[in-house]
Amino acid sequence: MHKNLMEHLGKLGRAVLDLSSEGILLTDLEGNIIYTNKSYAEICMRDGQERVGQNILQTNPYGAITEVLLTGKSVIGKKHASFGSNVEVLSNAFPIFIENQMVGAIVFFREIGEALKILDELAKAREDVRILSSKLEQIERTKDDFNAIIGRNRQLIEVINLARRVSKTDSTVLLRGESGTGKQLFAEAIHNSSKRRNFPFIHLNCAAIPDNLLESEFFGYEKGSFMGAGQRKTGTFELADQGTIFLDEIGDMDLKLQAKLLQVLQSGEFRRLGGVKLIKIDARIIAATNRDLEGLINEGHFRKDLYFRLNVVSIEIPPLRERIDDIPILVRNMLPRISRRVGRIVTGIEDEALAKLEQYHWFGNIRELENILEKAITLCNGEKIKAEDIYLSLLPSPESKAIMPLEELEQLMITRALQKFGTSLAGKKETARVLGVSLTTLYNKLRKMGKLQK
Ligand SMILES: Nc1ncnc2c1ncn2[C@@H]1O[C@H](COP(=O)(O)OP(=O)(O)OP(=O)(O)O)[C@@H](O)[C@H]1O
Ligand SMILES: [Mg+2]
Repeated sequence: MHKNLMEHLGKLGRAVLDLSSEGILLTDLEGNIIYTNKSYAEICMRDGQERVGQNILQTNPYGAITEVLLTGKSVIGKKHASFGSNVEVLSNAFPIFIENQMVGAIVFFREIGEALKILDELAKAREDVRILSSKLEQIERTKDDFNAIIGRNRQLIEVINLARRVSKTDSTVLLRGESGTGKQLFAEAIHNSSKRRNFPFIHLNCAAIPDNLLESEFFGYEKGSFMGAGQRKTGTFELADQGTIFLDEIGDMDLKLQAKLLQVLQSGEFRRLGGVKLIKIDARIIAATNRDLEGLINEGHFRKDLYFRLNVVSIEIPPLRERIDDIPILVRNMLPRISRRVGRIVTGIEDEALAKLEQYHWFGNIRELENILEKAITLCNGEKIKAEDIYLSLLPSPESKAIMPLEELEQLMITRALQKFGTSLAGKKETARVLGVSLTTLYNKLRKMGKLQK
């Protein structure tokens, strides 16, 4: 059998196998080694010829080829140390059949080090793809500029003009305004009108990411820099290179990270977590908040120095109730878009319905207007929205003697208190105090009412 197999292999076969960069070892059915190729010697750092004639069942009782000889089945991806050396290898071994008869076995193997290198390169390539696709997505998502901001109210126009001028500079911008006033819309418009428009716009909601993850979200980390850091991660500051970072809900960032952010903004450079290389920041910062930053500073929840750093240009977006004159134009602009989304043909709105909208106290601003219109379009029977189709979440009319479900009454009281005390943190605290509930309970109720951002 031994001789036979050698003949079968022949000079050509051996010459071909010698070209392989994988180590190869061939045995007959009894496990006698009849051939090793050149790479075998290189990988195992030993003379391959001395192996010929030895029996693999004895020398490698746990090797891949032994398994094949014992089971008659292929063994794929087996990790083990090569015989007589500590070189770890990854093996694929197969039975060899000639004319339907198993005559021996062959193993192909490579050093694990090399396999790992390939895995590493693969991981790096994946990371590159992730960066590229994130950049693409961001570029795709942000095409419109200030035209997307609807309104003719004088105050709003002034704000738009300021934003337009600022978009041509590289200044840090602080956008302020209640929930649903269009802070994100402005941030995108500023980016899209700036020279950075063809680079990423990265939106980071500081309130939505747990404090302990935010830092790595910002700066990224090196592989193995902490438990679970399996692969390198690129942070926002790097991803946003030459683009804009939109730090949303900046008032909710915890103090430790505020300090770090400030230091990074001041030095203009940062390191990945666990990294040594200093990386320069080239990103425009736009921050936004609906919270009362000055109040937070007084209470020690927001750093004054960070505030000054961010508050280079402050843009205050007026709430909808201060620009009721914009309601008709907003409704006209929103109707086609929402109708399409809902799948109904609604082309207009009756005067009475419009009047009802104009009387409402817009606590949730434009987002709330969108929601109410969506509901109206869904409920509407004809092509025009009627007053009865409009369900204002709450009718805060003080004269109302109506009897209502207790839950609605509760919401009414919350809304009234907030109107009175304002929606800043201080206002919410006062609201909670007056209503006799904890701040947490108030937040829970507001969340339920859809008055807080998800
Ligand atoms: N002037 C406007 N014209 C048209 N649509 C607007 C306008 N302002 C806001 N919107 C729309 O209202 C919704 C809320 O806007 P946006 O998300 O920008 O508000 P926000 O200030 O970021 O709110 P929050 O503080 O709750 O995050 C969005 O769907 C936005 O497109
Ligand atoms: Mg927002």
